[in-house]
Amino acid sequence: MGLLDKLFGKSSKEEGSMTTEKLNIGIILGSTRQGRVSPQVGEWVKDIADKRGDAKYEIVDISDYNLPFLGTTDGTEPGIAAWNEKLANLDGFVFIVQEYNHSITGALKNALDFAREAWNNKAAGIVSYGSTGGARAAEHLRGICGELKIADVRTHPTLSLFTDFENGTDFKPQSIHLDNVNAMLSEVVEWSRALKTVR
Ligand SMILES: Cc1cc2nc3c(=O)[nH]c(=O)nc-3n(C[C@H](O)[C@H](O)[C@H](O)COP(=O)(O)O)c2cc1C
Repeated sequence: MGLLDKLFGKSSKEEGSMTTEKLNIGIILGSTRQGRVSPQVGEWVKDIADKRGDAKYEIVDISDYNLPFLGTTDGTEPGIAAWNEKLANLDGFVFIVQEYNHSITGALKNALDFAREAWNNKAAGIVSYGSTGGARAAEHLRGICGELKIADVRTHPTLSLFTDFENGTDFKPQSIHLDNVNAMLSEVVEWSRALKTVR
């Protein structure tokens, strides 16, 4: 029995198992339109993430939840509860963000608005794309994250519609992005683990 176990008994063992437990990280596709490219980007991030073995990564597709436009229904659609349940079971997020009129999509904003506690005290990374790497949309998302108590990490891979896609549709990412994606994921996992202790 180690010194901490002798001093603190059971609680130190619980703490030990908590820190080694694998976290659940959702890779959230921010676009829902027909013909969207976000599934290609999300799968690429997931492939990189799965090779790390440091967390359980899954694609979370907003379009699977058929969320109504917030406030236009009585809120009993099963997708609303399912969306909150999914988020509640995640410890952190990677947002796949596309730039629409210099901001995030209406679908992502609506999905963000449809939950509150399920977002709180969790970490998130952002991977964005657009003509200027989706940077303007990503910065808008950072402001929203503050209100939802989501800790957005610094490292932010930005993909260009001109140099990382062929014809703006076929995703062919340049290899220089790989290090950035891994650095972002390291930050998300570290902060997700830290924030789990305050929930
Ligand atoms: C309504 C709309 C507005 C857009 N506005 C911008 C923009 O302001 N800046 C930009 O870089 N790209 C803009 N685009 C291009 C998108 O970034 C590009 O189509 C991207 O593939 C969209 O992501 P998605 O395919 O996952 O939907 C816009 C696209 C749409 C549909």
